[in-house]
Amino acid sequence: MNRFDQAATLRAKMKKRQRDLPIVFEQKAKTLAVISGKGGVGKSNITLNMALALQDKGKKVLLIDLDIGMGNIDILMGNSSSATIIDVLTERKPFMQSISTGPKGLRYISGGTGLDVMFQLDQEKWPFFANELSHALSQFDYVLFDMGAGLSKDQLPFILSAEDILIITTPEPTAIMDAYSAVKHLALTGNQLSMKVAVNRCRGQKEGLDAFTRLSRTIQMFLGEAVQFAGSVPDDVIVSEAVVEQVPFLLKSPQAKASRSVRLLADALFEREETRHKEEKQTFIEKLSSFLMRRA
Ligand SMILES: Nc1ncnc2c1ncn2[C@@H]1O[C@H](COP(=O)(O)OP(=O)(O)OP(=O)(O)O)[C@@H](O)[C@H]1O
Ligand SMILES: [Mg+2]
Repeated sequence: MNRFDQAATLRAKMKKRQRDLPIVFEQKAKTLAVISGKGGVGKSNITLNMALALQDKGKKVLLIDLDIGMGNIDILMGNSSSATIIDVLTERKPFMQSISTGPKGLRYISGGTGLDVMFQLDQEKWPFFANELSHALSQFDYVLFDMGAGLSKDQLPFILSAEDILIITTPEPTAIMDAYSAVKHLALTGNQLSMKVAVNRCRGQKEGLDAFTRLSRTIQMFLGEAVQFAGSVPDDVIVSEAVVEQVPFLLKSPQAKASRSVRLLADALFEREETRHKEEKQTFIEKLSSFLMRRA
């Protein structure tokens, strides 16, 4: 069988599996994928603290670490998890049983290690995983995905399926250039995406806005795409202190500049969720299924 025959066979299998999916859960959750071009720009810290900020507002939040192999969400909250998302994939462990509880009762699932496991999704594990994930999506108001830096082929289907994509950059030209490359990569997939940008580690609000303006103008000019400004987070010593202490900064210093900004960021990202969510035509699982099928 040549490569094209194999791909066609896989696609046929996936189509059949998609039809057979016993999905009965209605998606309630709004989904957000937090990404970056350059590594180390603050994705995990922002995602974790934003999850806590949303929870403070009485929302049911699930944080999923999809930085497989490099995930560190448990370290950031001084917790250890007995199960990871890899267990759902490889051990067929129910998703809801793989969720750990962090500080303030935050529900999260850690990334674990296992290269290429996500890539196997399309071949063997999809029906079980889809059913489990769709169950989780019916149980929470928000599901936040903390992704690895760059856009690996494992992560891309999840990013493209999310209702919103939050791109984190810093004001440094290198980070802005890498953010541009990530947006270009996403734009070239030809999908309609909702892309927002947050500028982290700013020295003042103006620096954040200036960095966003540079990035968005370049994106508009060369890619013809629009990205929205989600907000900025200041460079704040409390963040690295909190990382060392393994306590989320929002809990360590609720009134610190970084904490206030992350709360504003969460407000800006989720304020219109009720109306927008209803307009979504396809659910996260339907989109993920179609992206995985195309990849097969
Ligand atoms: N607003 C901030 N102020 C000061 N330091 C910060 C800030 N945001 C992030 N940092 C520093 O940057 C480090 C990296 O942050 P983080 O782990 O959240 O980045 P990341 O984008 O998730 O990295 P990776 O690409 O490796 O997943 C933190 O440990 C902290 O020291
Ligand atoms: Mg990270």
